[in-house]
Amino acid sequence: MSPFLLTRTLPEDTAGADLRADVVHGLTRTPKELPPKWFYDARGSELFEEITRLPEYYPTRAEREILLARAGEIAAATGARTLVELGSGSSEKTRHLIEALLPGLEDYVPVDVSESALRGAAKALDAEVPGLRVHALVADFTRGLALPGTPGPRLVAFLGGTIGNLLPEERAMFLRSVRTLLAPGDALLMGTDLVKDEATLVAAYDDAAGVTAAFNKNVLSVLARELGADVDPDDFEHVAVWDAEREWVEMRLRARHALTVKFPELDLAVAFEAGEEMRTEVSAKFRRERVAGELAEAGLELAHWWTDEAGRFALSLATAV
Ligand code: AVJ
Repeated sequence: MSPFLLTRTLPEDTAGADLRADVVHGLTRTPKELPPKWFYDARGSELFEEITRLPEYYPTRAEREILLARAGEIAAATGARTLVELGSGSSEKTRHLIEALLPGLEDYVPVDVSESALRGAAKALDAEVPGLRVHALVADFTRGLALPGTPGPRLVAFLGGTIGNLLPEERAMFLRSVRTLLAPGDALLMGTDLVKDEATLVAAYDDAAGVTAAFNKNVLSVLARELGADVDPDDFEHVAVWDAEREWVEMRLRARHALTVKFPELDLAVAFEAGEEMRTEVSAKFRRERVAGELAEAGLELAHWWTDEAGRFALSLATAV
């Protein structure tokens, strides 16, 4: 058995209070909105895994292609002895990176809000990479992080294009907080989906099998279970639209008819007009100049930019300046 440590910086009970606050804030304003993090209960995480295998959803395969092709270059460029992975989930794609970073890599620090995902990933890793120290952190990386004192150089990985789920101001805050984790010689490896034709983008978020629709509607089940909301997922329709000006895909839930969702525990009733849409996710798509610019704003310098053969997705490696 390799050493395994788990630290929780997220109190067990914050999730409920955070969800309440997001519901009160997001559903009492116009237009209505909810942050995408509430998709990911056990069912939502399963649906997301299913999305990554859909023919229309290219980002996961494109990023894996880049990681496979470039893991050696990433290892040579960083010489990392600690790998920190933000939003590690199942750590599946990271395996290639970990293997390329060995034997220099000593510590792996996966960070996720899901303790079960962290335990599962650590167990799989222990079988495949014996000797690697794993220090899992149950934490919300959008709220600032305290990392364990592991040896440098450190490589912080933020994969999957999840940065695109943050709004521009949230991205700026997030990148600045990542910057504070980095010492000279440390690096950030970040995955970003790229701007492309509208049909490809919309299909990736509105697949023929309806898995993304089920994923989107799953947030309604979370509201029902966690807050006792009397909501029927069949009352809403899945919508995915490309906003060409802001260069992001939006997922929304559209009320099929006028209805009221009651939250008895919150003493709140939320009225939807027929056809009214609630935004549940923004998934920003990037160009190289925007990534370089946002990194620079946070005190990070783009050192490498790699895309898949088809140019759909990018991995950037940035260093602290
Ligand atoms: C991989 C979490 C960034 O925005 O593409 C997939 C989540 N939403 N289908 C993305 C997602 C709808 C996703 N992230």
